[in-house]
Amino acid sequence: MSTIKETLLRAMEAYFKGDTRRIDHAHKVTGYAEELLAQEGGDYPIVIGAAVLHDIGIHQAEKKYGSTSGHYQEREGPPIARRILRKLGFAEQQTEEICQIIAHHHSPGKINTPNFRILYDADWLVNLRDEYDIRDSSKLSSIIDKVFLTQSGKALAHDIYLSESSQSGS
Ligand SMILES: [Fe+2]
Repeated sequence: MSTIKETLLRAMEAYFKGDTRRIDHAHKVTGYAEELLAQEGGDYPIVIGAAVLHDIGIHQAEKKYGSTSGHYQEREGPPIARRILRKLGFAEQQTEEICQIIAHHHSPGKINTPNFRILYDADWLVNLRDEYDIRDSSKLSSIIDKVFLTQSGKALAHDIYLSESSQSGS
């Protein structure tokens, strides 16, 4: 019997077809979301559902607007996520909470639940190296403090990007 996480991952992979870049990203964000969940509390099916499906609107955004920009993904993601979640048997209330998180995952401040904060930080744990110069450790430290919403997200970001081992070999 497969777990809720595996079921979601398989559905996401089927939707993204061979787009390994998006599939890998969703896997990484889900891994960090699990780590943060253990430390921050939060609701497992909501956080994992949101983590696996948070960027599910990206292909539609590209197709309709020729852009992967955050607000297009936020608009296109929820209807696709809703279809997938209903098919997998998620309760209506869970489906709506997950879709709300997806609809705001690039817009912090509008939803301020632990579930939202965990997904938001898990996404940033993966995206930080694409958005900022991670070699400048003095600046990076203050960026981490500004960007991340949870204490465990900040701590994990420091571990990943600012510890000795993260500096060597990069
Ligand atoms: Fe993402």
